[in-house]
Amino acid sequence: MKKFTAVSDVDNLQEIIKKALLIKENPLSEPDKGKGKTIGLVFLNSSLRTRLSSQIAAQNLGLNVLTLNAAQEAWNLEFADGAVMNGDTVEHIKDAIEVLNQYCDIIAVRCFAGMKNKEDDVNESILSQFEQHAKVPVISLESATRHPLQSLADCITITENRTGERKPKVVLTWAPHIKPIAQAVGNSFAEWMQEMEVDFVITNPEGYDLDRNFTKAVPVIHDQDEALKDADFVYVKNWSSFDDYAAMPEVKENWMLTNEKLEVTNDAKVMHCLPVRRNVELSDEVMDGENSIIYRQAKNRIFSAQAVFSEILDELN
Ligand code: CP
Repeated sequence: MKKFTAVSDVDNLQEIIKKALLIKENPLSEPDKGKGKTIGLVFLNSSLRTRLSSQIAAQNLGLNVLTLNAAQEAWNLEFADGAVMNGDTVEHIKDAIEVLNQYCDIIAVRCFAGMKNKEDDVNESILSQFEQHAKVPVISLESATRHPLQSLADCITITENRTGERKPKVVLTWAPHIKPIAQAVGNSFAEWMQEMEVDFVITNPEGYDLDRNFTKAVPVIHDQDEALKDADFVYVKNWSSFDDYAAMPEVKENWMLTNEKLEVTNDAKVMHCLPVRRNVELSDEVMDGENSIIYRQAKNRIFSAQAVFSEILDELN
């Protein structure tokens, strides 16, 4: 694997899921694979899971880890090409990446959607600069339009929690939120589910359809109760409008996931990438209930990251 920014960077999804599950059985199976090599984890946005699971995964492989919480600890970055830097920005992203090239064998970056300019976000204006200027493999720790390490963890979680021979029905359901949230997790989950042996549907209110470049032919149902029928897995996530970019069109019905709503499912397991707004996106009873596999999903972030770092190291060694 030369880079990891989307499902298209994975040669064989089933193989990498298998690899991650083997790592889960024995996380220290390759303790020296990254010896003498350094991974830079660059966070332009906040994180709990991605930061810590990536650090654990890298340490399990013997990698040196540099974590830069750029928004808080680094110079104020300039992203515009040709900018006259006579304002608040102190260091151009191009220069920062060139320096990271000197220090790191792998660069991993988190760069959320700015949610102000649709074109910039759709075109991955920050991640693309890392891809352009990095001379080492680049890993996305969530970008404007995708969250691939989360999606791989989601695939691992569904694989190990599915039961029976039948293809599981997986429902991605929109949930309410108090502020506009990017579409990255929803887009990414939709992309990865289309590579899995599952029956996949998306449910969201009118006005909240995700970008068809990601959802393609996946059925989008605007009636949540209808979509949840017979579901084996329900993935809860908020996102703001894509068409009316970053807007929050009014939603009259209550879309918060509750135990009552789960009654029509096939005793569905509930997933969420976290962080979650309790009693806004889903109820306490769902979050703390026996069908929630949300903490297991969070644990699998370690094995998702470790499988990817290991594959990238195969290219470097
Ligand atoms: N799910 C996820 O990416 O969590 P963090 O934002 O805390 O890293």
